[in-house]
Amino acid sequence: MYSAVQPSGNLTIGNYVGAVRNWVKLQEEYEGYFAIADLHAVTVRQEPAELRARTKELAALYLACGIDPEKCALYVQSHVSAHAELCWLLNTVTYVGEASRMTQFKDKSQKHADNINMGLMDYPVLMAADILLYQTQAVPVGIDQKQHVELARDLAIRFNNRYGETFTVPEPLIFKGGARIASLQDPLYKMSKSDENPNASVFLSDDRDTVIRKFKRAVTDSGNEVRYAEEKPGISNLLNIYCAFKGCTIEEAEREFEGVGYGDFKLAVGETVADVLTPIQKRQRELLIEKEELKRILEGGAERAYKASRKTLSKVYRKMGFYRE
Ligand code: TYM
Repeated sequence: MYSAVQPSGNLTIGNYVGAVRNWVKLQEEYEGYFAIADLHAVTVRQEPAELRARTKELAALYLACGIDPEKCALYVQSHVSAHAELCWLLNTVTYVGEASRMTQFKDKSQKHADNINMGLMDYPVLMAADILLYQTQAVPVGIDQKQHVELARDLAIRFNNRYGETFTVPEPLIFKGGARIASLQDPLYKMSKSDENPNASVFLSDDRDTVIRKFKRAVTDSGNEVRYAEEKPGISNLLNIYCAFKGCTIEEAEREFEGVGYGDFKLAVGETVADVLTPIQKRQRELLIEKEELKRILEGGAERAYKASRKTLSKVYRKMGFYRE
């Protein structure tokens, strides 16, 4: 299993229920490789000091959420050079047409019109390199990353056809419910780390009062029934969030909030989310103080990742005809 998060902003509850939380559940079943995707993050401008600080904070957050470094390799992407190397090799089997058709590339090009750099377009190829280096079977992600995992599949199949069996063809693993948490201010858009409206996203670092305030301000729909329905995107999103954090089904939640007004419902969602976040934040703070321990874990993770990735990378070089003794 392979997955990663970019240290490009504060993580939102979307990143948590769409990705990190599922990794924790799956780590018993799969051999996990989890990276902090710093090479991806620099495809949009980053303040160097902030990038460095966020990388450490994200590592501590993975651990605080329950990633077990004994079971998985937890590491920083740029510490394992095979990622950049395989990306280069995969570039030669990727068509400019398919890279330029990626939805996220088009969105980000619009959003960062003054910085449409080569890295932005190459982003999904680097992501394919991440995944394919570890002979990955499963890639647990939110729905917005599905297209990128599909490109990784296409590249693996194409490479295998051209050079002979080399890569395992990966599958995206997308969990119902948490796969697409929407913005609290405009439920037609996904909740995002980089939203300019601070009330649109709930961050894993938000304190209890902030979490509750943001949910109180969340946009709802006309009517007064707490019910999951296409024409009620605001309430449906809040129900999704509630269920993801409470561990119940939509039907159970609808029954629980029968006859309850929107205001009280929003308060209950806020309290439920805050109850889950508080202990994670406490553990993250402790881990950030235990600097040596964090450093040791990341070094161990990079070493494991290095060994596994070198195996695949050597195979790729050989298959492509690079001279090796
Ligand atoms: P990133 O950092 O944008 O997001 C990390 C993970 O969080 C999921 N996610 C969401 N899930 C539900 N609702 C949301 N509102 C929401 N927002 C984000 C994303 O789907 C993702 O799983 N390119 C990746 C990082 C990456 C990666 C990889 C992922 C680099 N290499 C290899 C998988 C495999 C990214 O930008 O994630």
